[in-house]
Amino acid sequence: MTRTTRILDDPEEAAAVIRSGGLVAFPTETVYGLGADALNPDAVAAVFAAKGRPGDNPLIVHVAEVSGVSLVCDAIPASASALLAAFSPGPLTVVVPRSDRVSPAVSAGLDTVGVRIPGHPVAQALLRAAGCPVAAPSANRSGRPSATTWEAVLADLDGRVDAVLKGERPQVGIESTVVDCTGVVPAVLRAGSVTLEQLRRVVPETLARGEQTAASPGTRHPHYAPRARVRMVQSPSPRDTAAYIGWTRPAAGYKLEAPVSGLEEYAHALYDFFRQCDRAGVAEIDCEWPSSSGIGRALQDRLRRAAAASVA
Ligand code: TXA
Ligand code: MG
Repeated sequence: MTRTTRILDDPEEAAAVIRSGGLVAFPTETVYGLGADALNPDAVAAVFAAKGRPGDNPLIVHVAEVSGVSLVCDAIPASASALLAAFSPGPLTVVVPRSDRVSPAVSAGLDTVGVRIPGHPVAQALLRAAGCPVAAPSANRSGRPSATTWEAVLADLDGRVDAVLKGERPQVGIESTVVDCTGVVPAVLRAGSVTLEQLRRVVPETLARGEQTAASPGTRHPHYAPRARVRMVQSPSPRDTAAYIGWTRPAAGYKLEAPVSGLEEYAHALYDFFRQCDRAGVAEIDCEWPSSSGIGRALQDRLRRAAAASVA
């Protein structure tokens, strides 16, 4: 179905679109989300259609404050409450038991639901004005890098969503940390800028990604991939058909370069650089391999998956 995509600055106007069952892309501190009323099954189905998202990959529901979590979950696990109290609003998603009020389609039929309280002021304004929980995956076509600018959202979703709400560029640049809180101990399903070390300061038993058996459904699908082939490198080797992102300054000779001064800046720049490389028709992207400290663990995860998808 074709939609006319409006570019909006006013969260109230965007909230009216959500309340009437429409699709609105909006900025968060991680990446742009593609939002719909989580309690409206038709709107939720339209999110999957707009993204071309496989029906077995659940959506995250966004609420404005901790008290809103009870709209989507009747029995909030103690670990989820503790983690939300420590890291919300912020780049953390907790997976909790799903209330019957939330359509199973949101969670791809699972009896759990992912919930996040974004801190970005425009996301906060939108959620407060909408007054309903907002289901939102990242605002990109399925399999593409997440969008970190409104222009990137439009490049993927123009004519597929009703509005793009503009706002200050996402600070973090990669998706939230996802933690499953439905088991005996919490388990990281997707690394993000809230690190394992930070989570363990609140709930010491928290398991690292891979230490548990139930993987996040989203991890089965190819993700985060530019059209160019992604290579993880220890040092630059300039060629005029390739691009480079990293902190070691290469000798001249790459077609495109994104110099970064640290891991945070690397995460902030990565997806936009992937998209820039595709526009420039670069064949390969050399990505300097980051250390696993801080957000580095999440960066390693995204680079590994982008590299795997681009050779598949
Ligand atoms: O930062 C973010 O999390 C962004 C912004 C918009 O909030 N959203 C985002 O959504 O990245 P998405 O749909 O691209 O990724 C959601 C991830 C997927 O890997 C999905 O499988 C997992 O979270 N997930 C969501 N609900 C889940 C559930 N009930 N159980 C297990 N994993 C879940
Ligand atoms: Mg995504």
